[in-house]
Amino acid sequence: MDVKLRVRRTVHALACCLPVLAAGGGAALAQGEVNIYSYREPQLIDPLLKAFTEKTGIKANVVYAAAGLNERLAAEGQNSPADLLFTVDAGRLSEAKDAGLTQPVDDAALKAAIPAQFRDPDGHWFGLTMRSRVVYASKERVQQDAITYEELADPKWKGKLCIRSGQHVYNTSLIATMIAHKGEAYTETWLRGVKNNLAHKPAGGDREQARDIASGKCDIALGNTYYMALMATNEKQPEQKAWGAAIKPLFPNAADRGSHVNISGMALARHAPNKANALKLMAFLASEEAQKIYALANYEYPVNPAVPPAAIVASWGKLKPDPLPLENIAKYRKKASELVDKVNFDAGPSS
Ligand SMILES: [Fe+2]
Repeated sequence: MDVKLRVRRTVHALACCLPVLAAGGGAALAQGEVNIYSYREPQLIDPLLKAFTEKTGIKANVVYAAAGLNERLAAEGQNSPADLLFTVDAGRLSEAKDAGLTQPVDDAALKAAIPAQFRDPDGHWFGLTMRSRVVYASKERVQQDAITYEELADPKWKGKLCIRSGQHVYNTSLIATMIAHKGEAYTETWLRGVKNNLAHKPAGGDREQARDIASGKCDIALGNTYYMALMATNEKQPEQKAWGAAIKPLFPNAADRGSHVNISGMALARHAPNKANALKLMAFLASEEAQKIYALANYEYPVNPAVPPAAIVASWGKLKPDPLPLENIAKYRKKASELVDKVNFDAGPSS
């Protein structure tokens, strides 16, 4: 991962460099600003902040980074200019909470807009969008229209399954939910079974698994929902349209506990110098107006149940999210990662 900060100019606001954001205590800051540290990419965030600024007049300054923002918050301590942290994955949000980098928010509107499953019970973080980790299945070669995660270990898939590295956060989060539901011993056996079914060594991202299904290297794969839409609509790399067209989504465990979901979300920084403005932005992001923008920006599912997903997402059928509280992901992810190493998952099927 690139640990170098990527700083961008956002609409109405300079996002560059610490001096612009630096003002611990808030007295030196102009009224009407809010400072964000974001792991989420600018193209997802900017349309939302533009709408927020137009509505409220509050400027949003953003520091974007692929990694290291929690560490930066910790190092800055009470002098941190950050008001909000935006990130993907419930595990990362929990890490920020556990590291003492966040503060609780008790807001009736936020609670009403975001179901309890998708927010921290103590109010330290709130989900904004969700995605499911589903099975990509070959339209041509897979006849069944239902599947379970457990079934991925069934020898009937031997040599037919593709997946990215077992250590990727998308996979360790899913494995963490298996530990929460079925226990560690079951999960280890299951993981060995999944490994034995691999067509080749885990590699690439989720889209490359669809590519390998399109080219006949495998029949099924695990991937996040939004990539299916990103492939189908990719004008810059039109070859991805064929990858997307080769697969159909199967929502695992739709007939029982539901499919694994994870979130992107936000947390109020512990020393937020512009707390009142940050709370306004949090409320806006959970509102129907912002949730609609979010749903279209990256083809994720809005967490606000009043807002439908994008049409292409809705066309895949209804998502039934596994109701397991997301803090379980943080709780078991380390163990999941250890199991991935223990079974030598990333070495592929023949080891
Ligand atoms: Fe992703």
